Amino acid sequence: MLIAVSDFPPGMKIGVLGSGDVGRTLARGLASRGHEVRLGSREPQSEKLRTWRSSVKGTISTGTFAEAAAHGDLLVLCVHGAAAEAVLDSLGPLPFQGKVVIDTTNPLVFSSEVPSLFVGLTDSLGERVQRKIPGARVVKAFNTISSEQMVDPQFGGGPPEMLICGNDPAAKTQVDHLVRELGWPGVIDLGGIEECRWLEPLVPLWIRIGAKLGTWKHGLKVVRP
Ligand SMILES: NC(=O)c1ccc[n+]([C@@H]2O[C@H](COP(=O)([O-])OP(=O)(O)OC[C@H]3O[C@@H](n4cnc5c(N)ncnc54)[C@H](OP(=O)(O)O)[C@@H]3O)[C@@H](O)[C@H]2O)c1
Repeated sequence: MLIAVSDFPPGMKIGVLGSGDVGRTLARGLASRGHEVRLGSREPQSEKLRTWRSSVKGTISTGTFAEAAAHGDLLVLCVHGAAAEAVLDSLGPLPFQGKVVIDTTNPLVFSSEVPSLFVGLTDSLGERVQRKIPGARVVKAFNTISSEQMVDPQFGGGPPEMLICGNDPAAKTQVDHLVRELGWPGVIDLGGIEECRWLEPLVPLWIRIGAKLGTWKHGLKVVRP
């Protein structure tokens, strides 16, 4: 059954694990939509995060990764790709049990001019994340979008539908509503979490295109006939 955007629970408790550009952007955006957000970091009381927190409108707090995970009924994983598995190991699967976990991470290695993937093409970071937290309902989303465009995206011709995948249909419906709240027209659901094998490799392509065009606000859009 399709649920209207207005039926997406207002004032959800959301934990954002990660304080980089992605974590701060999504936390700010979600707080601006009335959600109660806690952002997790290894240094939640740093001067940088205190200053940032005071600039955010809405209900926002910072805490450790564990505190952010415990706070959220829905979680957003936004840590450095190479650290994602270690962060999940340090927390254990319990705080994620039964929750929708939006995985924004990418398995990038910057050892050459253009990054490659440390997972190859027969595995993906999304699948590794799901394996670490088997009771969670992981949905890959936002990983092919610049952090600068994640909230209220501005693209010539309008924003693209967001490419997502994951094993749990209800979780993907919830993510569809959440991305619409943030200004996206909706999602294209590619299927199960193993589709991350194809979603994550779009990112080196996106970087290559950005280097050619001289912008990091561009997007990849699916156009229909
Ligand atoms: N930047 C983008 O435009 C973009 C777009 C789409 C997807 N992504 C993906 O989203 C994720 C976040 O990207 P980002 O650009 O916001 O920042 P990032 O620099 O990739 O990651 C920053 C976060 O990772 C944590 N972190 C880094 N090293 C760690 C370690 N060794 N152990 C534990 N935590 C560690 C940091 O912790 P502290 O809070 O303690 O510093 C911080 O919260 C990445 O996987 C990236 O590939 C990025």
